[in-house]
Amino acid sequence: MTESVFLAGDENWWRQAVVYQVYPRSFKDSNGDGLGDVKGITSKVDYIAELGVDAIWLSPFYPSALADGGYDVADYRDVDPKLGTLADFDDMIQAYHAKGIRVFADVVPNHSSDLHVWFQEALAAEPGSAARDRYIFRDGKGAHGELPPNDWPSHFGPTSWTRTTTADGTPGQWYLHLFAPEQPDFNWDNPEVIEDFKKTLRFWSDRGVDGFRIDVAHALKKDMSEPYPTIVDYDPKHIPLDGSHHLFDREELVEVYRGWREIFNSYNPPRVAVAEAWVPAERRYRYASPETLGQSFNFDLLAAPWSAKKFKKTIEFNLKLSEKSGSSSTWVLSNHDVVRHASRYGLPKKTNYDKWLVTDGTSPELDRELGLSRARAATMLLLALPGSTYMYQGEELGLFEVADLPGEVLQDPIWLRDGKTRKGRDGCRVPLPWEKTGSSFGFGSASAHLPQPSWFAGFSVEFEEVQEDSTLKLYRAALALRKQLLSTETLEWVTSPRKVVHFKRANGWHNITNFGKKPVALPEGTVQLTSAPLVDGKLPGNATAWITV
Ligand code: GLC
Ligand code: CA
Repeated sequence: MTESVFLAGDENWWRQAVVYQVYPRSFKDSNGDGLGDVKGITSKVDYIAELGVDAIWLSPFYPSALADGGYDVADYRDVDPKLGTLADFDDMIQAYHAKGIRVFADVVPNHSSDLHVWFQEALAAEPGSAARDRYIFRDGKGAHGELPPNDWPSHFGPTSWTRTTTADGTPGQWYLHLFAPEQPDFNWDNPEVIEDFKKTLRFWSDRGVDGFRIDVAHALKKDMSEPYPTIVDYDPKHIPLDGSHHLFDREELVEVYRGWREIFNSYNPPRVAVAEAWVPAERRYRYASPETLGQSFNFDLLAAPWSAKKFKKTIEFNLKLSEKSGSSSTWVLSNHDVVRHASRYGLPKKTNYDKWLVTDGTSPELDRELGLSRARAATMLLLALPGSTYMYQGEELGLFEVADLPGEVLQDPIWLRDGKTRKGRDGCRVPLPWEKTGSSFGFGSASAHLPQPSWFAGFSVEFEEVQEDSTLKLYRAALALRKQLLSTETLEWVTSPRKVVHFKRANGWHNITNFGKKPVALPEGTVQLTSAPLVDGKLPGNATAWITV
């Protein structure tokens, strides 16, 4: 077991950290079975160190049947044998810690896999038993219980209830799953559930894990009393601000996270956490407070269109929110759940990404050059902001969404559970191209578990290593500069033309992003880095410059 004692000391390391998200199954395959694995992550420690991030966050690596890419966890305190062993995990942590890089694990507390021993026990047990009480089982409606308890939809498909079959083959009770049927929701009023997650947090903290990303952190506590309210969708806009929603962001949820905080604070340095909570922005502070999880994702820039006005407003608003919570803000442009930002920015403003994916990314047509210029500019802007940045594997290569994956290879439950009408998220989960050639562009010796397109060759690490203006080189340079230039968690706006976002940090570090088309003049100072070459000394459209004055 490893202790991160040598990383002790700075309790505030997370406040302005850059965290790189690894999607383990698609990062690096060490044994040629087509699936990324833990040894693969270890083998890339030098790459990550050279990139210059402070931490990595690993999406779930636990035993899983992969009904939802690993977010269906069969055992919270083990490594998926397909990905390695606990010993491999210990080696991985040690390798990253040796380079001063922290490691986050992903905790999935709202639901387990249907293969979790508790759920299997629950299925075998009687209605009303203690085993069933760890999940949310209910009798069906109708004369013979043939109708679901209510008509709530799931995130992935038409219903959040699935009926069980009893040992003698007759239909039994129904259970709640806000996601896939293979992801039964826990009953967070059950003390055993509460205790078991504390055990999990200690288990990984004892193994040296520095932080946790908390999946669907706003769910967990539910009011399952009847009459059931009508719920048409899960849009955060429909979550009231008073904690009265039956499924999300309930007042009493904070108690759970206060309990977790006690565990985090029993370590040195305290373990940290970041909530994935799809709640109205005004409620984010409940998750981000130092008494609870400490940070909560702010997905507002990810959701914002390419507009100086929208970016500026979003930044101002979120800096105020982080002040209110006592936390630092968290900036995100891409993750494993959304269309990659190099593609989003190359599509017309109001594009419906679900529909775009259904056309294999042909309609509307993607403007790759525009998308990549904006993506590079946006990333630099993000890295200049006070607070922490979360980036997603492959964005440092400027990868686009793989929008033309054929239906037969798709793995996402969104595709499989919703009548194959929405392709879902596999297009951003295609394994990374490490080399220009080979059966899987250096991902492994076999072909990858999701097919890689031929254009990956020109976005491979090997290719970008030797290209002076590659996106990889830009990320490395920006991350190195950020380390030097970082200061207090404040910014000051500088008056600028309408389509420009210009702010400076306390130590004279200016960020100028040109959202328009026309080149703009830069202030006097030393140009440290630009996302695109200057044109006659001016900053071109869709570009960012960092200047020190
Ligand atoms: C989160 C994850 C997503 C997963 C869902 C259910 O939103 O980011 O990938 O499908 O939770 O666990
Ligand atoms: Ca493998």
